[in-house]
Amino acid sequence: MSAFSSAAEALPEPACPAIASRPVRVALAGYGVVGQALAARIDHAQGFVLAPILVRDAAKPRAVTPPGELISDRRALLANKPDILVDALSCAETGALLSEWALAQGIHVVSASKRVIAGAYPALARCAEASGARLLYSAAVGGETPVLETIAAAAAEQEIVSVTGVLNGTVNFILDRLSRGLSFAAALKQAQEAGFAEEDPAEDVSGADASAKLRIVAAAAFGGSPTDYDFEADALDAAAISRIEGSGQRFVQLARVERRDGVVTGSVRLVPREEAGALPVGDGEWNAARIETADGFSRVVTGRGAGGAPTAGALLSDLVRLTREVGLGD
Ligand SMILES: NC(=O)c1ccc[n+]([C@@H]2O[C@H](COP(=O)([O-])OP(=O)(O)OC[C@H]3O[C@@H](n4cnc5c(N)ncnc54)[C@H](OP(=O)(O)O)[C@@H]3O)[C@@H](O)[C@H]2O)c1
Repeated sequence: MSAFSSAAEALPEPACPAIASRPVRVALAGYGVVGQALAARIDHAQGFVLAPILVRDAAKPRAVTPPGELISDRRALLANKPDILVDALSCAETGALLSEWALAQGIHVVSASKRVIAGAYPALARCAEASGARLLYSAAVGGETPVLETIAAAAAEQEIVSVTGVLNGTVNFILDRLSRGLSFAAALKQAQEAGFAEEDPAEDVSGADASAKLRIVAAAAFGGSPTDYDFEADALDAAAISRIEGSGQRFVQLARVERRDGVVTGSVRLVPREEAGALPVGDGEWNAARIETADGFSRVVTGRGAGGAPTAGALLSDLVRLTREVGLGD
């Protein structure tokens, strides 16, 4: 027997307590790419019960067996007053409505929807403030890349000067494949098959998705609500695709927001990779962000920005954080 194994045997059993002593009840809105990935993953986490689950069509076959009842009546989702609502819907109108209902009743909300957060933040924040419920949305920007968390950590120490990032994993995937000679249609098909592209890719290719994320980033870095900001975005339209294909270069969709003399400006631009400077632009669906602070330092984060598993990971982090910080399940 080695010295290592006898030392290990002398150690006490590691204590891995459950996150909560009673199950934390999570109502899940949406059982598509993200919702099913969360169900598959939450199985391994302690203390959460997912039920009920809202979908459009409860009779549709699902790749991952639902861990709870599938329902299509949105009013029934919150009827039993769950502890937390997770918004993993593709319909922003329904997501905003449900999130508002939940927060108004004191039910915490964890959202994956950048459209809901970028578009309905003031109403949601008012409901949360009135009831004391929490609204977390780290999955709405960056997937598994901790963009908002890193901005919050930087802002706690220093004034933020700028945030530069690749914030849309689907577009980064498509631009990467274009640079390898694939057609736009073939690249989009691959992105859809991998679960990166939304049901309607218009939000991604118009730049609206990255612009919405940049508005959330701006509010996190410089204060206010995402609805206070408005940024122009280059579309990945036919003219842009032909320019990119003709260039023979790897392009990136670069989102940047900065504050100078108290004025915040930002944009989402399609540029050759060289213009991203020191930003570590990954292949495929990867995201990255560089947060510059007034002391001259930068924090850089990178990770997978699209897909069910990374987004579910970010949702799960918010669920665990909420459970611990609010004391749910005690
Ligand atoms: N996919 C990603 O890589 C990714 C990454 C980060 C964030 N997100 C965000 O996560 C959310 C979900 O994305 P997803 O890719 O999982 O979408 P998805 O695969 O299209 O799934 C959407 C789900 O919403 C349900 N749904 C849509 N409209 C509804 C309505 N009016 N009432 C009830 N249910 C409705 C659908 O029901 P049926 O199943 O019955 O059709 C489906 O279960 C979106 O906000 C998206 O922006 C996605």
